Amino acid sequence: MYGDKKMERRKLIVANWKMNHTVAESLKFFAALRHVIPTDPYPEVVIAPPFTALYAVEEALKGSSFKLGAQNTHWEDSGAFTGEIAPLFLKDLNVDYVILGHSERRQYFNESNEEVNNKLKAVLKYKMTPIVCVGETDEERSAGKTDAVIEAQVKEAVGGQLKTNVTDTVWAYEPRWAIGTGKSASPSQAEEVISEIRMLLEEVFDKSVAGQMRILYGGSVSDKNAKSFVSQKNIDGLLVGGASLEAEHFAKIIRSVE
Ligand code: PGA
Repeated sequence: MYGDKKMERRKLIVANWKMNHTVAESLKFFAALRHVIPTDPYPEVVIAPPFTALYAVEEALKGSSFKLGAQNTHWEDSGAFTGEIAPLFLKDLNVDYVILGHSERRQYFNESNEEVNNKLKAVLKYKMTPIVCVGETDEERSAGKTDAVIEAQVKEAVGGQLKTNVTDTVWAYEPRWAIGTGKSASPSQAEEVISEIRMLLEEVFDKSVAGQMRILYGGSVSDKNAKSFVSQKNIDGLLVGGASLEAEHFAKIIRSVE
């Protein structure tokens, strides 16, 4: 376990809407959220809508402390990559955070650690904040391979020459068996892996960098369990899927972290 006293890291809550919400639904969500939470909350809150709603949500977030997130990016600046979105396009829409290596991308779109590495470099280059997702499958956990899988995901994600603002990188531990299943990890299970991730980051960078990086938990987070995760020493916030789609529920999660 990572033994140091918890350093001051601002809590971060990220709504990952996945492939949900049209432009109209996105705007309705944000209006409803603002109704329940009219003043800026203490935790940093990021809304990651589908690409098609980024512009509209960006306009809606103006004047608030809520931040805009994207769910993926390509790593090249431009070119013949039909259907892809360049990091510059995200920067152009004032995107602050970019989720990378989500397990659904790894699973359904064969995204590799090498691609995550390319994307991480591109996001840092454009001075946006990457949120790198790592996590083991059920089979890997049963076979005692959790540590090895996470180690490869973390080390390969940060391989090569990284830009200097790497300290901003956010990590998200999302065990695959907990995503969208209603079966979350226990807070102590999550803390155990997350403290391992912090030790790995200390190995790769140094103690100071590892101590400043925020590491989130994700996987069946709800208003019922949110607080139990963020009260763990090394857990700095939450990546929320299903429970972020509905404003009232998401607001309860934000409140429980405050
Ligand atoms: P979930 O998804 O909260 O619906 O389990 C989390 C995620 O995939 O980021």
